[in-house]
Amino acid sequence: MSGGRLSGRVAVVTGAARGIGRAVTTAFAEDGARVFALDVLADEVGAVAAALRAKGLDVTARTMDLRDPDDIARTFAAIEAETPGIDVLVNNAGVIFFRPVEAVTVEEWDRLLDINLRGPFLCIRAVAPGMKARRRGAILNVSSNAGVKGGNDESAYCASKFGIEGLSRALAIEFAPYNVSVNTVTPGHPVHTAMSETTYGPENRAIWKDPIEIAPAFVHLALQDASGINDRYVRAWDLVQELRAKGDIA
Ligand SMILES: NC(=O)c1ccc[n+]([C@@H]2O[C@H](COP(=O)([O-])OP(=O)(O)OC[C@H]3O[C@@H](n4cnc5c(N)ncnc54)[C@H](O)[C@@H]3O)[C@@H](O)[C@H]2O)c1
Repeated sequence: MSGGRLSGRVAVVTGAARGIGRAVTTAFAEDGARVFALDVLADEVGAVAAALRAKGLDVTARTMDLRDPDDIARTFAAIEAETPGIDVLVNNAGVIFFRPVEAVTVEEWDRLLDINLRGPFLCIRAVAPGMKARRRGAILNVSSNAGVKGGNDESAYCASKFGIEGLSRALAIEFAPYNVSVNTVTPGHPVHTAMSETTYGPENRAIWKDPIEIAPAFVHLALQDASGINDRYVRAWDLVQELRAKGDIA
């Protein structure tokens, strides 16, 4: 909506067809951002964008496969060319599998690392020149509990999320002189998504929430420059409670 806190900002969200990415796309657009919703699922991301546009929101779908470096470069170049420049990047798309390490094939390892870690690197590489030149931007990399502690049969996923943490810590230092914030975000509360349908047991299923409930944390982080919340591992649910207690959100 015009007049929203993200009014005038261009945001790109990966993995926008489903789950957390769809919720973040919705919250950004409702707060006034011009959002480019990227996903490998062409029909689903198209439907997400169409439904939001029907509500008068500024959302454009683009089909992009994070495994394909050329596709990433083309997609970001096109968005940079048709806008004043990307202000917010949310590296959200991700995949997971559980397998004892001796059963993990090279193909499975590479596919997961390509989507969860190399893809975000390539998206950041694509936005870096513009953000640095304009001295404006926020990068949000979606992490996990698995980015700070190990999990059973999750060697590839943990490696990718610890990798996202390392990438983000390094980039927070690199981008700080350009006033660009770099944070990692973990849901901080069980959320109901296609991914968590495959990962959660009964305890988490009993309390899981719609991912739209953690989306206000992403809006808040999208508004940060390097002097604000920066170089942090943020638990989205906790930040939402903090913002609610301060009266910053309803
Ligand atoms: N759901 C959870 O409980 C949970 C917990 C911690 C962290 N996370 C992280 O949150 C992020 C989003 O997870 P979610 O639960 O919403 O998952 P989800 O499966 O609901 O959605 C993931 C999206 O990523 C897209 N995607 C997958 N491969 C892609 C590719 N090659 N190119 C482009 N897009 C691709 C999918 O199509 C899908 O729309 C992930 O990074 C995940 O690791 C999720």
